[in-house]
Amino acid sequence: MSNSQVRHFLTLMDLSSAELAQLLARAVELKAAIAAAEKITPLTRKTLAMIFNKSSTRTRVSFDTGMRQLGGGSIFLSPNDSQLGRGEPIQDSARVISRMVDGVMIRTDEHQQVELFAEYSAVPVINGLTDDFHPCQLLADLLTFAELRGDIAGATVAWVGDGNNMCHSWMNAAQLCGFTLNIATPDGYQPNARLLVERTANVTLTTDPKAAVAGVDLIVTDTWASMGQESEKTQRVTDFAGFCVDGTLMALAKPDALFMHCLPAYRGLEVSASVIDGEQSVVWQEAENRLHAQKALLELLLV
Ligand code: CP
Ligand code: NVA
Repeated sequence: MSNSQVRHFLTLMDLSSAELAQLLARAVELKAAIAAAEKITPLTRKTLAMIFNKSSTRTRVSFDTGMRQLGGGSIFLSPNDSQLGRGEPIQDSARVISRMVDGVMIRTDEHQQVELFAEYSAVPVINGLTDDFHPCQLLADLLTFAELRGDIAGATVAWVGDGNNMCHSWMNAAQLCGFTLNIATPDGYQPNARLLVERTANVTLTTDPKAAVAGVDLIVTDTWASMGQESEKTQRVTDFAGFCVDGTLMALAKPDALFMHCLPAYRGLEVSASVIDGEQSVVWQEAENRLHAQKALLELLLV
């Protein structure tokens, strides 16, 4: 028995363009309220279950803190110390957990697992990263761009690196927000082919990082070996030669171009230390904005 009337956030496309803009505006208000020591507690007595099948620093801390600041609380569940890791069917786990809490955040491998959980959940499910998408990170990234540069509509963003979950979420953002995304990946590391076709109006694809970053407003990258790809790391370091976002690449973008990275970052691989620790990098503001943007998301879904 599925609960199709429950609202989930599995990819950015679960929001309309207008809802996304509204959510980002609300995040700005919630951030200002924290700075002013003003309490906003619409989630009093509400609980978020957080299921982590993969490691996390930012996602765990931001969702836990966000729930506390909104008046509620969270429960951390890992496969090591729950029945989730001992083969209890996802359908059963979803039906049980969602009878006790008000929302569920899941980080796992296969995107289909999050979809299946959502199908059987009586409460909203939030994708905290799958192999295919990382929509919560995009909320923070878009908030950061808006704070520093205003409306991203009409801008040009370069994605340099792996055609991974973050790249896919940037492709979704390009369509929802109306900007151009130039993607540069090595051969064999292109993003999902079907998504490329669906986002063709907003996306360009190349194997030349220099061409992708020419004149752009923002350069974004991510690790070359995502969680679950650790055994491929050595091969990937070879295959991604020339894809390090360094001073030479940054110099080809607009003089006031920003640099973003969802973190964790590996200096000397996908980004040079001089870029990530340099003046155009906004990665710490970006990381903090996970908290503020997700609070707006939690308020939208759980109130
Ligand atoms: N960017 C991000 O999702 O970080 P964590 O893996 O630390 O949660
Ligand atoms: N692409 C990375 C993002 C980590 C936040 C991964 O999936 O490991």
